[in-house]
Amino acid sequence: MEGPRSPSETEFTQVLNFLDKKLRSESTWSISAEYPTAFTASNLHNMRIISDDEKVLSHAVMKPLIIKSPHVIFKAGAIGSVVTDDDHRGQGLSTQIIQDCLKLAKEQSCDIAILWTDLFDFYRRIGFELAGSEISFVIEDKFEVAPNQLRFSIDSRVSPDAIHRLYSNHSVNSVRTLDETRKFLSIPLTKVYTAWEPNGQLAAYAIEGKGIDLDGYIHEWGGSVSKLMALFSFIRNHKQNPYVIICPNHAQNLIEELKKQTVTMNQGFLGMIKLVNFDQLAAKIKRAFRAEGISDFVLEKHPDCFVFGVGQDLYTLTKETDMVRMLFGPINFRSLGIFEKEETLQKMEKILPLDFWIWGWDSI
Ligand SMILES: CC(C)(COP(=O)(O)OP(=O)(O)OC[C@H]1O[C@@H](n2cnc3c(N)ncnc32)[C@H](O)[C@@H]1OP(=O)(O)O)[C@@H](O)C(=O)NCCC(=O)NCCS
Repeated sequence: MEGPRSPSETEFTQVLNFLDKKLRSESTWSISAEYPTAFTASNLHNMRIISDDEKVLSHAVMKPLIIKSPHVIFKAGAIGSVVTDDDHRGQGLSTQIIQDCLKLAKEQSCDIAILWTDLFDFYRRIGFELAGSEISFVIEDKFEVAPNQLRFSIDSRVSPDAIHRLYSNHSVNSVRTLDETRKFLSIPLTKVYTAWEPNGQLAAYAIEGKGIDLDGYIHEWGGSVSKLMALFSFIRNHKQNPYVIICPNHAQNLIEELKKQTVTMNQGFLGMIKLVNFDQLAAKIKRAFRAEGISDFVLEKHPDCFVFGVGQDLYTLTKETDMVRMLFGPINFRSLGIFEKEETLQKMEKILPLDFWIWGWDSI
């Protein structure tokens, strides 16, 4: 057996064929059409396979993402398309491949690794834990918004420039090129809903579906709250059925508006996260605190524990997974009553939990 290793250029098609057979057997398109930025020749060095006798037995891909947020610029290694050939399961191949992806993420200065799965226990063995926050709203009923002059469209032939312009206004987003946005717009089974100003400017957009996933889910959106609410109202009328909008926790103004409608609200996790460069992330977080005028924030890793807090008001955690849930949520340190002083909580809440979010097109 060979690997984990990256496939050569000439093996690229063979790897895609393996993935299409295993993961997209019912689709008419290749998995590379769903993850156009992960499965490109330029990301070949981040694909990992184990092969035997020129046959691919196991695979995973890592896609580094740079996520800008108001306080911190994160680097996250998204891991996806983890699969082992049926006849070679239970031999540790996927575990080896994921460990190698974590090594790649570390070498490429990622702060964390993240993945999306329902095999929670499988990834817990490797140190991942459900963390971060996501709020989803099921739009149960039609709703009215204030009269407006917007024109709505379901035509998916929208200029990537227009989408990119609104996307850039998000307070938390990944660094994307126009070309990447163009590729994302071409993902099979993507529905694009847009709202346009009378002068022809894009006012809001909402993206539903992504290949075989996220049918009925709006996983990317952009625009001001009032324009988005008008677009969401249009979508509910158009679909004649409930649908779901996925939101980051920090989109508080939008969340408040959505709560006023007949919706079912669900609190979830962003994904399964594992720390890969704790010291680097801690340095970024400390810098963010200092920028807020807080110089006595403590976040340290000791041989068998993590220590964090403000000044002398400190708390100790032994599990790395608890630390992840403390930094990215959903653990609420206020409700735990672990700090003595109210001042400590107020200082910590300036930065924590971190405003961290990955939009749907970036999930792999
Ligand atoms: C999940 C999958 C990738 C595991 O691959 P693998 O090469 O067999 O994994 P490994 O041999 O490294 O690990 C197997 C171990 O994980 C455990 N495991 C496997 N599937 C599991 C699951 N669904 N939940 C919990 N543990 C699981 C096994 O019990 C075994 O544990 P052990 O080592 O203590 O005996 C493989 O079953 C597969 O390809 N499934 C279909 C595609 C898929 O679901 N991919 C995940 C997408 S997120």
